[in-house]
Amino acid sequence: MKEQVLVSGGAGYIGSHTAVALIEAGYDVVIIDNFSNSDMGAVEGVRKITGVEVPFEQVDCCDKEALRAVFKKYPFKSVIHFAAYKAVGESVADPLKYYSNNLNSFVNILELMKEEGRNNVLFSSSATVYGEPVELPVTEQTPRQPATSPYGNTKQMCEDILRDTAAAYEGIKGIALRYFNPIGAHPSALIGELPRGVPNNLVPFITQTAAGVRECLSIFGDDYNTPDGTCIRDYIDVVDLAGAHVAAIARLVEGKNKESYEIFNVGTGNGTSVMELVTAFERVNELKLNYKIVGRRSGDVESVWADTALANDELGWKAVRSTDETLQSAWAWEKKVRGL
Ligand code: UFG
Repeated sequence: MKEQVLVSGGAGYIGSHTAVALIEAGYDVVIIDNFSNSDMGAVEGVRKITGVEVPFEQVDCCDKEALRAVFKKYPFKSVIHFAAYKAVGESVADPLKYYSNNLNSFVNILELMKEEGRNNVLFSSSATVYGEPVELPVTEQTPRQPATSPYGNTKQMCEDILRDTAAAYEGIKGIALRYFNPIGAHPSALIGELPRGVPNNLVPFITQTAAGVRECLSIFGDDYNTPDGTCIRDYIDVVDLAGAHVAAIARLVEGKNKESYEIFNVGTGNGTSVMELVTAFERVNELKLNYKIVGRRSGDVESVWADTALANDELGWKAVRSTDETLQSAWAWEKKVRGL
């Protein structure tokens, strides 16, 4: 029998790409999502790409009884928990929304794993836990910095909740994957990132500007202490990122983990500036982007990129897609969404 994996938030950007990667790697997948920031389109996309009628349940992880019904219905041993709110600015304006949703949903997942005897859990963490990093590249040992937003704080708190849970309860093992900056879309252009309203993140803003949905990209600051003055990030193709989840699940399923709780950075190991990314987007897609330099965005970190040695060595996983390829997939997806 195939190993089954529950994917919470599986209709979201990273969740949908991970569902595809799991199915392609031979896992059975069950998707749950409350559609707070997604819709059935992504689930249909997963089904179309894989040719598998993936089971889907519309469930909010904060509703423990509804979640329990999912645990009773499906025999999965492993859970990948993506379901969470993720807008930094909104979390500052409405912190209780973030603490209530992001913490309760994860605690419910873990309680049910304990109550129902399930074993393996992956948590979607973020490079945001490193804040303005004290060293570059950042390793998993690089100290976390105090969170600068309630969103970032929920990532740190959920990491700690997972660490303590995996330490205390025999049979529960966890991995936190610290994502750097996921970009791009599935090469089929059947799934991708679909932000509601004005995008907060760089690449969706770039593609929407190229599509004419936004008039002009604002580049937030060119006076940073970097070679071209714009901020540096580690942009990772979402399909590569999805592959890291498959490797991490396999590690837990096969009992290859060295501790009950482990952490891995998931990035490429390369830093790219905002200006380099914009220029690459124009070059690979043969278009001109309307952009202007504006003031810094509050809370932005100057530079951050990953040391990926641990994930490379322990998970046997490495990001392989080029930024050019990724920026082409991002544009192909935007064109598809806009009917261009
Ligand atoms: N940027 C622009 N213009 C935009 C959007 C972004 O210049 O319209 C710049 C930002 O200033 C930053 C870079 O592009 O230098 C990347 O910005 P993103 O918003 O795409 O990504 P961040 O690195 O800011 O965000 C990431 C994750 C968040 C996490 C955050 C914490 O996407 O989930 O790191 O710092 F909270």
